[in-house]
Amino acid sequence: MTYFWLKAGHIIFVIFWMAGLFMLPRLFVYHQEAPEGSEEAARYVERERRLLKIILLPSIIVVWVLGLMLAMTTGAFSQGWFHAKLLFVIVLSGYHGWLSAYAKKLARGERSMDGKTLRLLNEVPGLAAVVIVILVVIKPF
Ligand code: HEM
Repeated sequence: MTYFWLKAGHIIFVIFWMAGLFMLPRLFVYHQEAPEGSEEAARYVERERRLLKIILLPSIIVVWVLGLMLAMTTGAFSQGWFHAKLLFVIVLSGYHGWLSAYAKKLARGERSMDGKTLRLLNEVPGLAAVVIVILVVIKPF
C-alpha cells in the first residue's frame, strides 16, 4: 500500500516538474522578444521567478524524495535500469539548475542565447522523459 501511495505521489510531482521544465524556456523565448529594460521584460522576470519558486523547486524536491523512498521500498538501488534512470534524472536536474541560472542572467539583463538555441534546448526534458519512462516501465536490464 505504501508503495502505491509513494508511486502516485511520485508521478503527480513528476508531471508538475516536467510541466515547469517545458514552460520555462518558452518564457525565456518570449522574454527575449521583449525590448530590454521594458515593463514587459520586467513582467517576464517576475513570471520566471514565480515559476521557479512555486512550481519547479518544490516539485524537484518532492520527486527526488519520493523517488528515493520508492527505491528503498523496492530495492531498486541494486538494479541496472535504476542506475541508468538515475543518470538521466541527474542530467534533468542539471538542466533545471542551468535554467535557474539563465533566469538570473535574464533578470540582470544578460541575454547570452538566441531564441533558436533556447527552442532546441527545450527538447532536452522531452527526450529525457522518453528514456526515463521506458527504463522505469520496461526495465530492460
Ligand atoms: C528524481 C529522481 C527519481 C528517482 C530516485 C526515481 C525513482 C523511482 C523508483 C524507485 C520507482 C519505482 C519503480 C518500480 O515500481 O519498480 C519510480 C517509478 C516511476 N518513475 Fe521515477 N524516479 C525519479 C524521477 C523520475 C522522473 C524524472 C520521471 C519521469 C520523467 C519518473 C517517472 C517514473 C514513472 C512513470 C514511474 C512509474 C513506473 C511504473 O510503475 O511502472 N521518475 N521512480
